[in-house]
Amino acid sequence: MDSILVTGNGALNGQIPIAGAKNACLTLMPATLLSEEPLTLTNAPRLSDIKTMTALLQSLGAEVSTLQDGQVIAMSSHDLTSQTADYDIVRKMRASNLVLGPLLARFGQAVVSLPGGCAIGARPMDLHTEGLEALGAEIELKDGYLHAKAPGGLKGAVHEMRFASVGATENIVMAATLAKGTTVLKNAAREPEIVDLVECLRKMGAQISGEGTSTIEIQGVDRLHGATHQVVTDRIELGTYMLAPAICGGEVELLGGRMDLVGSFVEKLNAAGVDVEETANGLKVSRRNGRVQAVDVTTEPFPGFPTDLQAQMMALLCTAEGVSVLEEKIFENRFMHAPELMRMGAQIDVHGGTATVTGVERLKGAPVMATDLRASVSLILAGLAAEGETVVSRVYHLDRGYERVVSKLSGVGAKIERIKG
Ligand code: UD1
Repeated sequence: MDSILVTGNGALNGQIPIAGAKNACLTLMPATLLSEEPLTLTNAPRLSDIKTMTALLQSLGAEVSTLQDGQVIAMSSHDLTSQTADYDIVRKMRASNLVLGPLLARFGQAVVSLPGGCAIGARPMDLHTEGLEALGAEIELKDGYLHAKAPGGLKGAVHEMRFASVGATENIVMAATLAKGTTVLKNAAREPEIVDLVECLRKMGAQISGEGTSTIEIQGVDRLHGATHQVVTDRIELGTYMLAPAICGGEVELLGGRMDLVGSFVEKLNAAGVDVEETANGLKVSRRNGRVQAVDVTTEPFPGFPTDLQAQMMALLCTAEGVSVLEEKIFENRFMHAPELMRMGAQIDVHGGTATVTGVERLKGAPVMATDLRASVSLILAGLAAEGETVVSRVYHLDRGYERVVSKLSGVGAKIERIKG
């Protein structure tokens, strides 16, 4: 198994290009299932999660090909052969469940494996199934699979979600595009990836309004057609690399970065003593003189502080002056990076969903283990600022969500290399 060797050094300077959003691409790809006509995505990220979604769509009979070194994904769901998403693929990646809504809407049936738990929590699918049932689906759990059917087709309805789940919003919106009549989805998630999905669905002929607010209205249509859509910038990759100069000092421009994608995160960076400025090509980040200051962070659905940046923010706060309190409100078990950071000399006290971080002057390099996608990159960030060498093992987690991490970081002066193993 490969690992990543990071040697702590000084300030970082230069530019980092930000890729298209993994989480947007993972919901845009299943949207192909809604139409017989081709859907093409541009600005796609080159990641193993995208390959997993490609394999899933191909297992359903879709044609999926990549062009321009993987940045363009051309899909056709003209001749689908199956409506079953197998456990073998779904267990690798929870976002596989995003085929449920589209398959059910187009074919009146779908069989999708429950994903099971993952490292960061139980992650059930009740919010997805409740929404689809509100649209008239009958859903039964058999042998670990959700068997969904809508014999007379889905019908529009008013439905309020108990919690603004990102994936459930995406599944319900996709399903409602082909339902009969109007669907009003209340307490919908407002993440930029959902706005991106709706913009793509609209290009395919869907009639939707209210995306980006907590009420989304969908007027069902008989069929959707083909489209080409550019995937929105990855706000989590953006936030991650914004933390590199924050931790190491220097000045880095994030190409393609947009302030509206990272508003609440930027507020916390500013409070910690990190400046963020809009440029013609993106965002420029630099740390003010001296150590960063402690700040308190609570993760929330968008537009609040994203849970997917909590681990990376913790890496920054490990060397802040003062005591920071991080509260994780989205996932129940998302502090597994804390004990790894402690191996590097961080002082962290975890109690339930709260981590108290007492900043130390400098971390020390150590062998550490990636436990999930965002945890893995937080260890790389910590290693950049630590004294000596840090070896991060189990980097297959990293490959799920960060493309070319070694070349992007070495491009701004980081000492980082991948060790084949
Ligand atoms: C998406 C993102 C993930 C991010 C998360 C929260 C993708 C592919 N992944 O995941 O990176 O961390 O949003 O911003 O876009 N829940 C239920 N029942 C459900 C569904 C969710 O209880 O039916 C709970 C989950 O266990 C979790 C919380 O709701 O505690 C948030 O989950 P959700 O918003 O659905 O996240 P995902 O769509 O899985």
